[in-house]
Amino acid sequence: MNDFIFHNPDKVYFGKNQMEHLPEELLKFGNKVLLVYGGGSIKKNGLYDTVTGLMKENGIDFFELAGVEPNPRHSTANKGAAICKKENIDVILAVGGGSTIDCAKGVAAAALTEDGDVWPLVSGGIWVMQALPVIAVLTNAATGSEMDAWAVISNMDTNEKIGLGGEALIPRAAFENPEYSYSLPTYQTACGAFDIFNHVLDNYYLAGNATFDMVLELQEAVMRTVVKWTPVAMKEPENYEARANLMWASSMALNSILDAGTVHGCACHAMEHELSAYYDITHGHGLAILTPRWLTYILNENTASAIYRLGSKVFEVEEGLEAMTGAKKAIAAVSDFCFKTLGLKADLSELNIDDTHFKEMAEHACMGGVITGPVNLAPADVEKIYQMCL
Ligand code: NZQ
Ligand code: ZN
Repeated sequence: MNDFIFHNPDKVYFGKNQMEHLPEELLKFGNKVLLVYGGGSIKKNGLYDTVTGLMKENGIDFFELAGVEPNPRHSTANKGAAICKKENIDVILAVGGGSTIDCAKGVAAAALTEDGDVWPLVSGGIWVMQALPVIAVLTNAATGSEMDAWAVISNMDTNEKIGLGGEALIPRAAFENPEYSYSLPTYQTACGAFDIFNHVLDNYYLAGNATFDMVLELQEAVMRTVVKWTPVAMKEPENYEARANLMWASSMALNSILDAGTVHGCACHAMEHELSAYYDITHGHGLAILTPRWLTYILNENTASAIYRLGSKVFEVEEGLEAMTGAKKAIAAVSDFCFKTLGLKADLSELNIDDTHFKEMAEHACMGGVITGPVNLAPADVEKIYQMCL
């Protein structure tokens, strides 16, 4: 178990009747708001009217940055930063999924720089200690951005997708009403759910010593929650219990509680960000394609018992098997979950991805070194894993 500091100042308003608190949270910072949202889902499901209505009733002036892309672009964040500078914005309100919240964080950081450009912060690996405050209204259970210190920003000109981190990026408040995720398409529900699953798996004790049992069991509980409730939410989009379990699992997976004392591996995430940087695919789908292949690649005598434990605790693989046999069953269960239960396409070739860029993607993913984990991955290993996904 490693030393850790736990600090998460985000105030979460969870449930059906919490939006009345939005104006008071915004007004803590001032009455000039930049409202950030995506391609229009919040206009279709009525959330735009709710949020803007509350701001109007409370005398809050707001400006808008609309059209944030899935895999948000640095250029969009820069547009938002320019509005903040011109209008002296006090606080940024993100209403949407991870892409919208991440873009809002990019805006918040860039707005306080001299040139209003987020990319030097992202590409320079700057830990952001100063940013405008961000408040998030979450509509997709997936990334954990509503409660974490990260924003993942893409630069499609250079095929780069990189995480920008910093304490100042943790939202000051998050509103999580599971009903806001009722309108999610089935595909996004599945992709978001697998993203949650993988956030936990990437920090599971496959990447370290399992000496902190409490965290280990919490991690397994969150993964079990995803396995149990995602099929329900896919079948019954308006099942409140299912949506609520997934939404809180999204926040739990990355709010630092579940990685306290563990080793950060993030192998699948490092490999996936290259896929979305080059091919603009949906993040959770890329993770689903990679994860069973990665587990297969790292399976050896040292990892077998931990992978088997994952299978028995999360997927009810029978106990009492020899470790290697159990681990193979566990990997098969993960694979079935991704491709049968969630119904996601299993191969990169089905997403029209071939091996053209694998070499450079593998090099980027390793950032000049190796991806550390239970088995360290050098570029040649990553390339082989991409090949296994074709
Ligand atoms: O743009 P709109 O119209 O809102 O539609 C979105 C988008 O098309 C739609 N959607 C979201 N909520 C909806 C809805 N449609 C109907 N009803 C709703 N309630 O779903 C589509 C995908 O939205 P997006 O925000 O892109 O999805 P997600 O929440 O999965 O975010 C993905 C982004 O977050 C990054 C990913 O890499 C990707 O760029 N990540 C951020 C992390 C973080 N900040 O810590 C960590 C993650 O590992 C991840 O990398
Ligand atoms: Zn993720």
